[in-house]
Amino acid sequence: MTDEPGPLAVIGTGYVGLVTGACLAAAGNEVRCHDIDADRIRVLQDGGIPIHEPGLDDVVRSATASGRLRFTDELADALDGAAFAMLAVGTPQDEDGSADLTFIDQAFRDVLAACAEDVTVIVRSTVPPGTGDVLQDLADDLRPRVTVVNAPEFLAEGTAVRDFQEPDRLVFGGPAEATARVEALWRDVGRDAPRIHVDRITAELAKYASNTFLAARVSLINEMANLCDALGGDVRSLAKIVGLDARIGPSFLRAGIGYGGSCFPKDVQAVAAVARRAGVDVPVAEAAEVTNQAQWQRVAQRIEEAADGRPVAILGIAFKPGTDDVREAPGLKIARRLTEAGLVVRLYDPVAKAPDGCGTQVDDPVGACQGAAVVLHATEWPEHADLDWQAVADAMDGKLVLDGRNALDWGALGKAGLRVEGIGARARKEVMA
Ligand code: UGA
Repeated sequence: MTDEPGPLAVIGTGYVGLVTGACLAAAGNEVRCHDIDADRIRVLQDGGIPIHEPGLDDVVRSATASGRLRFTDELADALDGAAFAMLAVGTPQDEDGSADLTFIDQAFRDVLAACAEDVTVIVRSTVPPGTGDVLQDLADDLRPRVTVVNAPEFLAEGTAVRDFQEPDRLVFGGPAEATARVEALWRDVGRDAPRIHVDRITAELAKYASNTFLAARVSLINEMANLCDALGGDVRSLAKIVGLDARIGPSFLRAGIGYGGSCFPKDVQAVAAVARRAGVDVPVAEAAEVTNQAQWQRVAQRIEEAADGRPVAILGIAFKPGTDDVREAPGLKIARRLTEAGLVVRLYDPVAKAPDGCGTQVDDPVGACQGAAVVLHATEWPEHADLDWQAVADAMDGKLVLDGRNALDWGALGKAGLRVEGIGARARKEVMA
């Protein structure tokens, strides 16, 4: 039986901090979530959830009701009696692609100024390799009994609660005694998951490496899709065949209009920046991002040519289904470029909101398709599969639906008289089941 770990203060109630804090409270820990944004804290104290994340409201509600989770905008209150302080603040991108550590540095200094003597600081934000060691040096000068541990998160938006509860692995980087203390917070989480204790730099790199591998897979399958477009193959069957190789595996081989979100684009560029500073060449990692940028531009050009000055509809604004996050969403980049080219663009999304300059957002999908020459299916929301395609066909002023995620039932669209093209799947060929 593991000793009860002490209370945890989570610094930052963004996506990472809120999911982690709430799920660790639900797993039996005493957690105080802190944010300097008093309005955000008030929303959370009133039972609201500031992000769209399936299942998170239930976790927050039950953890709050059990008395194990509370929210505060007073750092001293969050740290009062805390054995752990978790840094879950933003690490935005700097101009050269590297991570801007201003918030981490400030939050760490604030914690050092207010925490107990021997608190364990857990860095949960994604940070460049070496950051934890720099923080430890600072702590050694100011508060010598403070220890820094890196515990990267591998939560995907839209499935973050499930990813937390059923992790593929748990990673703890730092001195063994300290990582053992931190692991105890996860004592009732993912009991079958491998728990890997490493040095801080390996833990920090593990997060960057995982996202770079995944991003590169997406870019590679998109390159294969473009080859299929040029040569006549079907990338859906190709991905199935390639993924059946046990060494490769089937996940993350869905071709499309490119990856988006707050993680892949930023982390791949951060890896390149880290490598530059270290004097190491990482051309494969860099190429993942180059190919990704080219992918949405290629699709935008294809639509521009097909629309020939007529209106375009874009179904899906979020960078992927299950989230309202629009950061780096490729559908929005396409929308912006088409708008700038003078086309009328109407967008629909069941949850996400488009920023200015990307066209007009309407609140029903068929309405978005009214008068459109081309419809782009940009985000594979499950509800898009059940659209009334006859109504879409009747509303359109053309017939082309570009399935930017190869996710729709092309037979149903064909029956409605629509012409469907995919990404690397333009020819209507038999696809392996
Ligand atoms: C990603 C990682 O999957 C998480 O493990 C990681 O913790 C997270 O970043 C993070 O760093 O915090 P996320 O960005 O939420 O999670 O979303 P993903 O599901 O990974 O999708 C990223 C993008 O790739 C999306 O735009 C998605 O549409 C695209 N994608 C994904 C494809 O185009 N094809 C695929 O086969 C898979």
